[in-house]
Amino acid sequence: MIRRCLFPAAGYGTRFLPATKAMPKEMLPILTKPLIQYGVEEAIEAGCDVMAIVTGRGKRAIEDHFDISYELEHQIKGTSKEHYLNEIRLVIDKCTFTYTRQVEMKGLGHAILSGEMLIADEAFCVVLADDLCDNPDGKGILAQMNELYKKYRCCIVAVEEIDPKDSNKYGIIAGEEIENGVLKVDDMVEKPDPKDAPSNLAIIGRYILTPDIFDVIRDTKPGKGGEIQITDALLEMAKQGKVLAYKFQGKRFDCGSVEGFVEATNYFFEKEKDNLEA
Ligand code: UTP
Repeated sequence: MIRRCLFPAAGYGTRFLPATKAMPKEMLPILTKPLIQYGVEEAIEAGCDVMAIVTGRGKRAIEDHFDISYELEHQIKGTSKEHYLNEIRLVIDKCTFTYTRQVEMKGLGHAILSGEMLIADEAFCVVLADDLCDNPDGKGILAQMNELYKKYRCCIVAVEEIDPKDSNKYGIIAGEEIENGVLKVDDMVEKPDPKDAPSNLAIIGRYILTPDIFDVIRDTKPGKGGEIQITDALLEMAKQGKVLAYKFQGKRFDCGSVEGFVEATNYFFEKEKDNLEA
């Protein structure tokens, strides 16, 4: 059973400036809920109860969000508005939040390594909250991946088919299909030009990692963009046959881009509009 979920949330979110000048990107709301709360709820559904968040300067709002606001509680207690806090209260009750800071932005691999002290010596999930996922027809994506982990006990990356011209925005994998929707990864490239991409299967922001990844990241040299890339560390693991790619069931929105954010807003509005109050 995987208990811990790591949220690398130290990035600057420059694509959302000026909104992200004083507010973390992870706190941008889709309808009434910040992106990171959707990620935490997906992790809870998958069975996690420890949320390990890697933050950076200017991210204090994330800690405050997953804490009780006594003033607010006092103000709305007994009023018709109290129920607005029900969902976040449930989240706070169900899990423990731990935090550390990534002191320098040296890439996603480095952010994950910065979270090492928050992770016990066991497998853990990773959620990039700006990839917002939903499966209207069943289990969430992390829950699907946890099922797979029980069977294979190795690193798993969630992948989806993309338009080949977008390969330079993603880590791209190649591998052999070992069961329906599951590939054994034998190649991975970070943000390749379309002509160099080994397939059209892109890694999205959901991973299950085994703790031996930390030593591998420590030995990983800066790659694309001068950053320590998790894709490069995972390629090392893949060479030892320790990485699977999973074509998940459900939808994923790239809320790190304005277009994906608007798409997600429209999707969740259609889905939730009957539950929203005027
Ligand atoms: P992005 O590539 O989306 O970068 O990071 P970003 O800084 O958040 O956003 P832009 O491109 O400037 O608009 C992918 C994920 O990895 C985390 C980010 O917080 C995001 O969840 N990350 C990235 C870190 O935590 N640390 C890093 O050094 C880099």
